[in-house]
Amino acid sequence: MRKFPRSPTVRINGIDVELGFINSGKYSLRCRLYRTAEGLSGLLESAWFERALASALGRWRSMRRSEAIREARRLDGIYRWYAPIYDRLFARMYRSARVRSIASLKLTARDRVLIAGVGTGLDLPELPLAVVAVGLDASLAMLTRARVAHHVAAVDLLVGDAQFAPFVDAAFDVAMLHLILSVVPDPPAAFREVMRVVKPGGRIAVLDKFAPDGDASWIRRVVNAFARWSGTDITRRLAEIIEGQPVRAVSHETALLGNYQLVLLERLTDVRSDPDPRPTTSTPAAVAALDRLGDSRDIQPQ
Ligand SMILES: C[S@@+](CC[C@H](N)C(=O)[O-])C[C@H]1O[C@@H](n2cnc3c(N)ncnc32)[C@H](O)[C@@H]1O
Repeated sequence: MRKFPRSPTVRINGIDVELGFINSGKYSLRCRLYRTAEGLSGLLESAWFERALASALGRWRSMRRSEAIREARRLDGIYRWYAPIYDRLFARMYRSARVRSIASLKLTARDRVLIAGVGTGLDLPELPLAVVAVGLDASLAMLTRARVAHHVAAVDLLVGDAQFAPFVDAAFDVAMLHLILSVVPDPPAAFREVMRVVKPGGRIAVLDKFAPDGDASWIRRVVNAFARWSGTDITRRLAEIIEGQPVRAVSHETALLGNYQLVLLERLTDVRSDPDPRPTTSTPAAVAALDRLGDSRDIQPQ
């Protein structure tokens, strides 16, 4: 237990007496404060308190974990339902916006590209032919659709969570975030992960519907109750999602009658602000995908 300084003591008739008590009220108050602090410190360091704290933290963590699992299951259910009809519903609607977003990246054969939340792969036919990429998505149903619909050979499709991307730091030159930041349960976490796996100087293309700054209208919140039910959130703001991250906006346009934003960002410095432990090695599937990216860069025309 930590000891706090005491006021000096003298021995009177064989008893140790703290000078503070006989000297002045000021010393006496200090002594009492020290004793209280000592008592508190004892309590904080006691096994009982440790157990109580551990159990409260455990309950809190498991509550958060089960919340996250519930949300992931909810989204998986929604996208399992969407998978067979997604392209019919949305392919045409988003085509010109995604073409513009991909064009803004000025991709070359040397770029290692991550498509986070690749879905049914509607971005894939729009990539320049020489570009190879890794597509990550939490929904197996959507990825299966991507495999079947686009017969993709130049893209590795991995099941995984963009909030805990299974890649080493700075594995990619480019990341595409098309229509995922409005869907993923924790968008700042997903963005932080993308920042981690994109190298400094790398480009990040974002296409999504964000709430305009300052728009907290009740209509938007009411409509959002329905939007969330269909697997998306229309109240998120890009500025809040990327807040504190070392990025600069290279370009910013709107699309689909001003309801969507196309933003090209550049990662500036090598900063890791997230204290959570993250994988320092990729998962085996991600390692293989990254190896294939490297191999294909070797054989491609420059
Ligand atoms: C609206 S769709 C967009 C698909 C595709 N990017 C496009 O432009 O058509 C959102 C996608 O994000 C995926 N997704 C949701 N949460 C995710 C997560 N935590 N990690 C990876 N993908 C996720 C969904 O499974 C779904 O395929």
